Amino acid sequence: MLAGKRVLLIIGGGIAAYKSLDLIRRLKERGANVTPVLTRSASEFVTPLSASALAGEKVYTDLFDLTDEAEMGHIQLSRSADLIVVAPATADLMGKMAVGLAGDLATTLLMATDKRVLIAPAMNVRMWEHTATKRNLETLKADGVLTVGPDEGDMACGEFGFGRMAEPLEITAAVEAALTDGPLKGRHVIVTSGPTHEPIDPVRYIANRSSGAQGAAIAEALSGLGASVTFVSGPATSAMPGGCKILRVETAAEMKAAVEQALPADAVVFAAAVADWHVTDAGPSKIKKDDKGGLPSFKLAENPDILKTIANLPENRPKLVVGFAAETDQVLENATAKRLRKGCDWIVANDVRPETGIMGGSENDVCLITENGPENWPRMSKRDVATRLAQKIAETLS
Ligand code: CTP
Repeated sequence: MLAGKRVLLIIGGGIAAYKSLDLIRRLKERGANVTPVLTRSASEFVTPLSASALAGEKVYTDLFDLTDEAEMGHIQLSRSADLIVVAPATADLMGKMAVGLAGDLATTLLMATDKRVLIAPAMNVRMWEHTATKRNLETLKADGVLTVGPDEGDMACGEFGFGRMAEPLEITAAVEAALTDGPLKGRHVIVTSGPTHEPIDPVRYIANRSSGAQGAAIAEALSGLGASVTFVSGPATSAMPGGCKILRVETAAEMKAAVEQALPADAVVFAAAVADWHVTDAGPSKIKKDDKGGLPSFKLAENPDILKTIANLPENRPKLVVGFAAETDQVLENATAKRLRKGCDWIVANDVRPETGIMGGSENDVCLITENGPENWPRMSKRDVATRLAQKIAETLS
């Protein structure tokens, strides 16, 4: 339920704007107060009068309306809501949000707000797949903007594919999720994820097969329970999680610095597959092949152990430190020893032999090792592992 919650609904100029009128009704049915803001082009698709009649509230359309400014300034308008919803979020609006333009009331409100923003993108499938839109979406997610949809289906333009705005009930569920006080509300959790790349020379690096999928799912699950999540990610191939603050790093040293900068935290989950070594003499020039067939040699040095460092902090140690143990042999023995050696509270152990299909796949088969011993979880999707782990973290921190 949304009783007493205030939603500022920015309606963008797309054909899906008609669905936003239904969205107003759905939000109101659940007890929310909805203040609609129409962009200039949205008013070409739906009338301010319809939006106002359904919301039972004044509709805002123009930044420079002196009467509006006298009654409620745009800054106050952007702060008085509990959540800002942009539906439909057109390619144009997403682009403006990503670069921080504030040329009209809608974009000014988005720049001035201190509240969370949820966008429901809607556009033609080619526009949705355009690299500029993908880039903007990544930027918005990294800024902590929440997303719902788009869905796949027939579109008003006659094409088929992704780009159709999520249905009003789907958006309403996302609004409820964003406004529900989860058990981790007020808690800060750091999640490391993905591989690290350690340069050999300017064009080559040491890497590993981690996709970052498990870490991203954990971050999203923790955020879904209300935590404020800082996601420190190496160069991962899987999508960045929604609703999290994202810090991108490349090397283990950068990852350590980012984690330390993000402290204090109530919990830290180390899902990253950190490279164990870096090349000490990685120079600015590309290593060339030797005419005489000689092979290059590298000097390797051990990377800082980020998990061990944080688990052994003399002051402000996070209450819960969770490590991962990706093993190919004697999983349980190695992981149990690793938990003690690193000084962390829990270890999530998994068998990453290629035949398990776990590294880079969508499923995981884990054993959680705590101070009470091992707990075998059945094989399940990485998303389900994330949900179960996030719930366990919430129980432990409460
Ligand atoms: N880890 C870390 N910093 C490192 C290496 C690992 O924070 N330099 C973290 C990983 O994120 C993971 C845990 O430590 O949570 C275990 O990583 P793993 O690679 O399995 O262990 P290693 O310490 O590297 O041991 P080994 O490679 O010998 O198994």
